[in-house]
Formats: sequence, C-alpha cells, structure tokens
Amino acid sequence: MPDALLDTIGRFHPMAVHLPVGLLVALAAWECWRAVVLRRAGARAGEGPETRAQASMHVPVFLCWLAVLGSGVAIGTGLLHEGEIGRDATTDLHKWLGIGVGVSALVTAVGATLARSGVGPIATAYRVVLLITFAGLIPAGHLGGTITHGEGYLFERLLDRGTPEPVVGPSTRNGPDPASGAGATGAGDPLPAPIDAETLGVRARQILAANCESCHGPARARNRLRVDSLEAMIEGGRHGPAIVPGDPPSSPLLERLRLPLEVRGHMPPRDEPQPSAEDIDLIEAWIASLGPSAGEPG
Ligand code: HEC
Repeated sequence: MPDALLDTIGRFHPMAVHLPVGLLVALAAWECWRAVVLRRAGARAGEGPETRAQASMHVPVFLCWLAVLGSGVAIGTGLLHEGEIGRDATTDLHKWLGIGVGVSALVTAVGATLARSGVGPIATAYRVVLLITFAGLIPAGHLGGTITHGEGYLFERLLDRGTPEPVVGPSTRNGPDPASGAGATGAGDPLPAPIDAETLGVRARQILAANCESCHGPARARNRLRVDSLEAMIEGGRHGPAIVPGDPPSSPLLERLRLPLEVRGHMPPRDEPQPSAEDIDLIEAWIASLGPSAGEPG
C-alpha cells in the first residue's frame, strides 16, 4: 500500500481511540449500577441478588466485545500512525500502555462471557480486570494528549506556564531605543552587530531549544527530527536532512520557519510560541556560516 494511504489510515487513530474509551466508561458505569441498584431491587423483590444480576449480564458482554473490536482498530491505526510521526520515549510508552489496555479489554471480555451467571468468583475476577483496564486508560489517554498537544498542555492554563519568554536576539539589545528601530530589520537585512561564529552557534542552539525541542528533542521527536545537535539536524527527519551546512535556501528547517504562519507545515505549529524575525535571521546566518564539513565527527 502506498505510504500516503497508510499515513491517512494512521491519522484516524486519535479519533478511533474514542470508541473503546467510551465503551469502557459505559461498562464501568453499568457495573456500578448493577452492583448497587439491581442487587437492592432484587433483594427487595425477594428473588435474591442473582436473578437480576444474571439478566443484566447480556449488555456488558456485548459492550466488552465491542470494546475489544474498537481497541483492535485503535491499536492498528496507532501502529500505522507511529510510522508517520516517528518514535520517541513518549510514543513508545503510549503504544505499550495502549496495547496493554487492548489485551486487558480482551481478558475482560472473556471474563464477562464466562461470568454470565453474574455472580461467583469469575464475576468478581471480571470486575477486577475491568477496573484494571479502566485504570490503564487514564495514563494511556493522557500520553496520547501529550503527543498531540505537547508536554504539560492539560494544566498549563492553571499553572500559567503557557508562554515562555521569547528568546531575545542580540540585535534587539543593541539600540538605546529598540522600539524606534523595529522596522529596520526586515528579512534579508544583515544582522546589525556582527557576532563571532561561536556566539552565533550558541544563540542558534538556544533559539531552537526554546522553540522546537519540546517536539523535536530527546523526549519526543516528531517526524523523527531532533534539533538538539547539529549532527541530528543534518541527518534530519522523515523527509531527509533538515539543514544543509552553508546553504540556507536548501535547508527545510529554515524554509519551515519562513513559511507564513497560516500555511500548513509552518514551524513551530501555529498555536505554539513563535521565534522573532531576528531569531529567524540569526538561524539563517548560522546555517550560512557552517562549513560543508560541519557536523562530521573529528
Ligand atoms: C508542538 C510541536 C512542534 C514544535 C514546537 C515544532 N515542531 Fe516541527 N514538527 C512537528 C510535527 C507534528 C511535524 C510533522 C508534521 C509536519 O511535517 O508538518 C514537524 C515537522 C518538522 C519538520 C519536517 C521534518 C521531516 O523531515 O519531516 C521540520 C524541518 C520541523 N518540524 C522544524 C521545526 C523547527 C525548526 C521548530 C522550531 C522553530 C519546530 N519544528 C517546532 C511539531 C512541532
């Protein structure tokens, strides 16, 4: 199958996971209802807890097997999606937790089927496994959210760590009144103050670390690209090298930075903090300053 088709099927993963999640939540709610309401009603009617509990097992058995089917689809699309977004520590953990939840859902379904009498040790075991499956959903789902939205997204509004201070380029610190010189540094203008190669490299790394490393670093490497070393950038990601030393126009990393914000593929993604125009100029100057043998060992 062509890559584009597999990637497209993989992109259904974030949607597909909601079916088994919803079913498992419904199952847990059903079990609570069965344990409390049905038992009491049965006892009141004088027919003992078994009869009604037994009658009510058809629904959980059905929901369980539907959840197993849904988990299978979620795992399959997830494995395809991994091919597109690349692997890192977070996606690996998410994957194994997700597969664990799928296996646990299967055990739950077998338990529910065997426990159709609704009472007895198998029925108890079924509820315990259901609880474990449900508990596994929470970290698996949370890591899924981390992969799509970035580390710390969920509570970032409450913790107020949403917008880190932009990294200020050396150019903005030069004039006595930065506001009056704002229009002076358009694209293509040389940097106002020449800085030595080492400082340039350090500054470039700081800008990339501040703006890109949450998604292209050791913890996560979207599209397999890491920007925490020059070698890694030259090696690049899914679509090949991100940087061609000495050749800014051929460096996709710079091209992505310069794409208009609203164009697909612009980096960092639209709702992330953006580097300043000066920062981008500095990255360009840095790539231009690299010799052709940059990044090679020795
Ligand atoms: C919030 C997460 C996030 C941040 C921050 C981010 N990126 Fe990305 N980046 C992605 C995702 C997701 C993709 C894959 C989708 C795409 O190609 O648009 C990607 C793809 C890329 C690619 C293509 C790699 C390849 O070979 O396919 C480059 C180059 C890139 N990013 C550069 C950057 C740079 C430079 C920065 C910082 C200025 C940055 N990104 C910040 C999420 C991010």
